[in-house]
Amino acid sequence: MTAAILLAAGVGTRCARPGDKSPKQFLSIGKHPVWVWPFLAFANHKEIDHIVIATLPDMVDTIREHIQKLPCNKDVVVTAGGATRQESVRLSLAVLANGNKPDFVLIHDAARPFLTAQIISDTLAGVRKYGACSTGVTASDTVKKVSDGVIVETLDRNQLVLVQTPQAGRFDWLVEAHEKARKEEISVTDDAAILEHAGHEVRIVKGSPHNLKITQPEDLALADALAAIVFERV
Ligand code: CTP
Ligand code: MG
Repeated sequence: MTAAILLAAGVGTRCARPGDKSPKQFLSIGKHPVWVWPFLAFANHKEIDHIVIATLPDMVDTIREHIQKLPCNKDVVVTAGGATRQESVRLSLAVLANGNKPDFVLIHDAARPFLTAQIISDTLAGVRKYGACSTGVTASDTVKKVSDGVIVETLDRNQLVLVQTPQAGRFDWLVEAHEKARKEEISVTDDAAILEHAGHEVRIVKGSPHNLKITQPEDLALADALAAIVFERV
């Protein structure tokens, strides 16, 4: 059994524009709110059995109602996330632990609307083969290490990967790794780092440059333009 966790419990501080009434994942891109696009990608994928959505406590009911109107025959749970992304993942894993425990879990940012069936399939193949994987893309730009606005090092681009989500792991590895991170007060921004800290090798599988995360206000305009191309056929 395979589960997907969709993370929609952030407040979107970096993306906030004056006048926005809700965090980025609830704004519309094309005909749906941002979070609905990756939800539908999981809902339509035949190898995903179970979906957990972590969201802000005051959005739990709204999301539940919205899902009723969407085509989905999977087992879906909407739960309140935590104060950090890491905590939202941990709480979502706890929801899965209380039900039929999955073998594998894919974790995805709701702020990445351009998730495709191909990316889900590639991630699933990776996690089944290796136990832990993250999607990622090569860096097109040269990446520099900077201190106080001054370049201190030019990194070797051939050794760099920009990681995205989905990231995936065996359920037992993820639960243990998150518990270890919590006990040791390790805080990181992705699940690959949690798994790495627990001693697991995390393989990179092919992501997509289109699978961008809406992070800054400018990303909303970019996502709108991309949606017109990518979602036109939906
Ligand atoms: N997320 C979450 N719970 C949190 C924080 C983040 O579920 N407590 C989710 C976000 O909703 C988003 C994903 O994790 O889909 C990636 O996080 P990020 O892009 O950092 O979103 P925010 O934390 O909302 O934005 P910011 O860091 O700018 O405040
Ligand atoms: Mg954040």
